[in-house]
Amino acid sequence: MTSRIEEAINVLKMNDRGDYTVPTNRLYPYQWNWDSGFTALGLWHLDKNRAWLELASLLNAQWKDGMVPHIVFRQNDPDYFPGPGVWQTKTSPSTSGHSQPPVLASIVWEMVQMGGLDDINRAREIFPDLLSYHRWFCEARDPKKSGVIGIIHPWESGRDNCPDWDIGLAGVDVPNNIGEYIRRDTVHVDSDQRPTGYQYDRFLTIVNFGRKVGWNHEIIYNDGPFLMADPGVQFIFLRATKDLLEMARHLGQDSTLHEIEDWVERFEAGSEWLWNEKVGGYCARDLRTGKFSNGLTNASMLSFYAGVGSVEQQNKSIDNCCRIMKACKFAMPSWDPQHPGFESHRYWRGPVWAIMNYMIARGLSDAGFEDLAFRVTSDTKLLIEENGMAEYFDPLIGKGLGGMNFSWTAAIYLDLCRDSLIKDSRGIVTRARAHGFN
Ligand code: GLC
Repeated sequence: MTSRIEEAINVLKMNDRGDYTVPTNRLYPYQWNWDSGFTALGLWHLDKNRAWLELASLLNAQWKDGMVPHIVFRQNDPDYFPGPGVWQTKTSPSTSGHSQPPVLASIVWEMVQMGGLDDINRAREIFPDLLSYHRWFCEARDPKKSGVIGIIHPWESGRDNCPDWDIGLAGVDVPNNIGEYIRRDTVHVDSDQRPTGYQYDRFLTIVNFGRKVGWNHEIIYNDGPFLMADPGVQFIFLRATKDLLEMARHLGQDSTLHEIEDWVERFEAGSEWLWNEKVGGYCARDLRTGKFSNGLTNASMLSFYAGVGSVEQQNKSIDNCCRIMKACKFAMPSWDPQHPGFESHRYWRGPVWAIMNYMIARGLSDAGFEDLAFRVTSDTKLLIEENGMAEYFDPLIGKGLGGMNFSWTAAIYLDLCRDSLIKDSRGIVTRARAHGFN
């Protein structure tokens, strides 16, 4: 029997398209932003050159204004909807029209810390691109300098159909002429594991608005159908900005330090706006109405990763974290299991995602909650060892769900097993250590 480590390596090879990796064959046939970030981390343990190429190819699709889009379409694949013809961004290569959680700087900083001189040089080459990506987030997603990032589409959160977006989506008017469209995702995966038709109509209405205004982000931010604050993007951005600052110091990019320090201060202060005292945690919030989502998610638990919150706020979050973990066999569900709307197998409304667990565990460990971090990490390993490289997992029974042979799950697994990888003299992984993972 092949070990899970070999399986993870094979998944990354299978999904390799030369200079980028698809999340999984057929269901997601293009390059996705944060998928490529996490995939680069896994690849780094196998082939450093290929890992840097993954990031370079993504940054090759960066818009002139600094935005790194959420999908890069290098060809038109009829297996995926909505494809380049729906987005019509008129960029080369063709892309979607908004971004995704900006994990890139954190991944690059991690690769630099693990690596050597060559990694430093590679990071130096792309540092200006990372800086302009962060500048874009500050300008286009927080034009009023409030310290709160506003996302313009649930897809920008990377947590597409999470109940977090229900209040924002309720305000999206779907025109009668939304038209007949054929979803492709439900051809590949059971529809009870995917977003509903109600949500999809609204997802497309927001895309249609962006296309109509030529993807002018000033108009979209001010007048678009959806604008919400997301603890996920807020905390991932803040952490990535702190990592960018560390990297800038390490690379001697002195002229950028002041600007990045200001961003850290601004978004640390702004994060307070997402604290929902009623719930005892950080929640999504509609930027226009101020209305809070009233449930905790795995993104709420990223406050530790971003390093925000008073001692009292941290204690409340930890109490909730422990309660939620007790209610599940496997941490960390994407929606509070003791809250209405929890669905253990539907995408971001309950299931566990390995990439979120990776960031949550880091945050908990950084904040000194080692036992909780250990629980999250060991649950992630166990889920993958028992069920393989699934896109996401049921937190109650552990079943693997969604697409199989998933790149980011394989990548996180390789990172978790980094000490068990046996390399030859050229640094190429040849096999996994016999104990533990076979
Ligand atoms: C789904 C996920 C998103 C991910 C994409 C590709 O849309 O919600 O986070 O980037 O699939 O895996």
